[in-house]
Amino acid sequence: MSVIEINHPLIEHKMTILRSVDTDTKLFRENLNEIAKLMTYEATKNLKLETTEVTTPLMKTQAYVLQDKVALVPILRAGLGMVDGILDLIPTAKVGHIGVYRNEETLEPVYYYCKLPTDITSRKVILVDPMLATGGSAVYAIDYLKSQGVTDIIFMCLVAAPDGIAKLLNKHPDVPIYTAKIDQGLNDNGYIYPGLGDCGDRIFGTK
Ligand code: PRP
Ligand code: URA
Repeated sequence: MSVIEINHPLIEHKMTILRSVDTDTKLFRENLNEIAKLMTYEATKNLKLETTEVTTPLMKTQAYVLQDKVALVPILRAGLGMVDGILDLIPTAKVGHIGVYRNEETLEPVYYYCKLPTDITSRKVILVDPMLATGGSAVYAIDYLKSQGVTDIIFMCLVAAPDGIAKLLNKHPDVPIYTAKIDQGLNDNGYIYPGLGDCGDRIFGTK
């Protein structure tokens, strides 16, 4: 059961750009993907390796390749904003999609779509969504993945509220949470504060 807040000067700097109300869609997208890439370096530290042999121009030597196969699963829509950054580092990852949005009145998750790689149960799944607010969407997505037989999941987000962290740890203690920031809390509308606003709208320019 773990929550890892990834601290790095580059992430701090880029988070400030994301939080700013003055940041436009292009800059927002670029910085979100750059943070996702930096986080991936840390979040994949425990990937398993297998021993192999490589021939350098001078000699044969022992070397390593990844044993774990990875599947990346963004929660639509906002999770899409982190995919390219992660794929830059793990280009062989397969990508599934799960569509869950939050009912704006009840804040309950509403499921609408899922398409997963056929071999997902043999893969390590990185579930991504920039915002962990009440935790309803992430818990729903993990319930769903587990119902399909997935057993090895990590959750990666950008900003996490204490409520969402508590809910996720309670429902899925086996799923480590990697986040760039743990923020103060949720406002009356269920938005994270200080947060960065509606992440999906800021990525796609829909508001
Ligand atoms: C946002 C966000 C998460 C969810 C977090 O999605 O991307 O999926 O809210 O809130 P929760 O922890 O309280 O469930 P949203 O519902 O705005 O959908 P969108 O990505 O399609 O804009
Ligand atoms: N979803 C968002 O996009 N932002 C929040 O602050 C909470 C949920």
